[in-house]
Amino acid sequence: MTLDNGSSDRGNAIMAKDKSKQTFFCEACGAQSVRWEGRCNTCGAWNTIKEFRTAANGAGVRGRSSVTPGKPLLLSEVRSDRSARLIGKGSELNRVLGGGLTPGSVILVAGDPGIGKSTLLMETLVGFSQSWQVLYVSGEESLAQLRQRADRLGVVGDKFPVMMENRLEIILQVLEEWQPDILVVDSIQTMASESSPSAAGTVNQVRECAGHLIQLAKTHNMATFLVGHVTKDGQIAGPRVLEHMVDTVLYFEGERGHDYRILRAVKNRFGSANEIGVFEMGQNGLQEVLNPSELFLSERIRGATGSVVFPGMEGTRPVLVEIQSLVAPSVFPQPRRNTLGWDPNRLAMLTAVMEKRLGLGFYNHDIFLNIAGGFRVTETAADLAVSASLFASLKNLSLDPSLVIVGEIGLGGEVRAVSHVATRLREAAKLGFDRALLPEKSMKQVLDGPKMTLTGVSSIEEMMRHLP
Ligand code: TYD
Ligand code: MG
Repeated sequence: MTLDNGSSDRGNAIMAKDKSKQTFFCEACGAQSVRWEGRCNTCGAWNTIKEFRTAANGAGVRGRSSVTPGKPLLLSEVRSDRSARLIGKGSELNRVLGGGLTPGSVILVAGDPGIGKSTLLMETLVGFSQSWQVLYVSGEESLAQLRQRADRLGVVGDKFPVMMENRLEIILQVLEEWQPDILVVDSIQTMASESSPSAAGTVNQVRECAGHLIQLAKTHNMATFLVGHVTKDGQIAGPRVLEHMVDTVLYFEGERGHDYRILRAVKNRFGSANEIGVFEMGQNGLQEVLNPSELFLSERIRGATGSVVFPGMEGTRPVLVEIQSLVAPSVFPQPRRNTLGWDPNRLAMLTAVMEKRLGLGFYNHDIFLNIAGGFRVTETAADLAVSASLFASLKNLSLDPSLVIVGEIGLGGEVRAVSHVATRLREAAKLGFDRALLPEKSMKQVLDGPKMTLTGVSSIEEMMRHLP
């Protein structure tokens, strides 16, 4: 088993010379540590640090044949197959992948158990199976269970081979024989290789199995989806280490009590990261949501106190979300700060700037900040909207329901320019918003922009003057 391209030989050499350079991994979060420790420094779990041993040159495993020494090639002589993407049926997954599936790419699809990963991949693979040879290997569900899901999804499945197997060596043999264009391994935590003594799901096994599958994917130009379950704290259990080995990492997320699911690219060698696809889980599987802004704003109460609409960007796509806050006098010596979908440190910074610049008293108020619908906003471009929402809730103001607010706030209370303003506002205009507060410095980007009343502001004080 190798760590990664070429690094293993170096690693083995070091290990032979100096034992103390052996690697240790936490089985809970996948964090690497230089020595054995009783408690993982990263996730705090006890007794989860395990020594990582490499099997001697992957002995006994097919598909791990001896490597022929390569010679350097001129970059211009290298054949590029990249342009030939495999395009599936739905537009959402194609978008998240960066315009289709790249042959030979390895994609980790991570998400909570039960979120719908198997459903998504089955639907996806059925779409591909019309034009390409596919193979679905399940290590956790029986063939009958797969058939039940297929029936529920209305999948015919006459070109859709499935296999229940969790022994890596068998899977590699089958792959050599079938040579599929697209493979799904559901899930990587259930796979085990004979060459590693550890149990399935441990860091050793996950790395071992993924390593072989990745190598086969590259040599046979086989696009491979690896499913990985995440732990409660949001880390990919064990296979966190996989994030570095695969080409693309997709997170499939959803909120309890909501039917929609978001497929988010957090790493993509063949497209832009941060791209999202939105789906709705129904009785017959996942439906694509083509206009997510409408979905996220559907339950909004127009003119509610502390509610502000922010035109956000997710990758290349504009998404409108509602920011809600509740600021109420606190009975605690240390007031509460609860955020859902927004970074609590960023909230602390914004309240500090507002206290300093506007003289507002948040120090004796509890603050609850929520991005409606369970969405998560990481853009600093939402600063101005969050501040407006906090201000409105503190002062009991209900803001103009057809107003959107966008802008980043600096520590001096200045409002900074943000990217893609025209795209953001066009989306807002499409959904009937006719007023926008935006950074003064971004005004020139929207000269021939949408038909809205635009107000440029250069400081947080100025923004407050434009709120009712
Ligand atoms: P599944 O794809 O098995 O999740 P994962 O592979 O991520 O563990 O999806 C399981 C959930 O999805 C389960 O709670 C049932 C629900 N579901 C539907 O609501 N509609 C459907 O059509 C299907 C197939 C599943
Ligand atoms: Mg599953």
